Amino acid sequence: MNNKIKAYVAIIGTALILAPGLGVSASGVAPVTNTLYKNECSGCHFAYQPGLLPARSWTKLLNNLGDHFGENAEVSKEDLQALVTYATANAADTSRHKRSVKINKSIGKNETPLRITETGYIKHKHRELRTKHVKGNPQVKTLSRCEACHTRINDGSFREREIRIPGLGRWED
Ligand code: HEC
Ligand code: HEC
Repeated sequence: MNNKIKAYVAIIGTALILAPGLGVSASGVAPVTNTLYKNECSGCHFAYQPGLLPARSWTKLLNNLGDHFGENAEVSKEDLQALVTYATANAADTSRHKRSVKINKSIGKNETPLRITETGYIKHKHRELRTKHVKGNPQVKTLSRCEACHTRINDGSFREREIRIPGLGRWED
């Protein structure tokens, strides 16, 4: 083999090894890759992936961190700029990951939701959950605590077989 062909073989081989891994994340949402975002946004709750809301939602939410659901989550001006850049570049209306596309489609063009839990797609997917699963479950309490039930959420994965309801076990339809 000449070197050019060897290089092609190497590239195709690598692509084949990586492809299944890419497939996994492409079915969910893109995992968080930004260290600043991870640090600033995981202090009070799980660091929600930018792919869970459209860019206009992140812009609005991040520009109002001084009054963030009743808490002060303010960051420095420079950090704010970096957070907006990262979140909007990876938002649901930009990402090609399956869950991001579906969430985005479920939001009206004139709506700017600040909660993932208020988007049509996420509400619809959880319509079968009862009080005993969420509100009345001391280990969950609110649907906003995605990580309580989605055991592989840090990989951006929401597969049904990975769901465990704390204290109640696997989710069976
Ligand atoms: C000081 C604590 C604190 C920090 C820091 C913080 N948050 Fe929050 N966040 C909250 C609280 C409290 C809620 C409301 C939780 C609830 O209602 O259950 C919330 C809710 C949210 C929600 C809505 C979740 C839903 O219900 O769908 C998003 C999105 C969010 N935060 C994003 C962020 C981002 C992005 C950052 C980083 C810039 C951040 N938060 C940092 C306290 C914080
Ligand atoms: C109390 C447990 C619980 C919490 C908390 C929870 N979920 Fe879920 N989620 C489920 C269950 C159960 C299903 C599967 C419903 C079904 O299809 O039967 C599901 C389904 C989903 C799906 C669809 C997966 C698929 O393959 O169809 C997505 C996406 C999702 N959840 C995202 C989230 C996000 C984002 C949050 C936080 C804002 C969250 N969930 C909070 C239990 C939970």
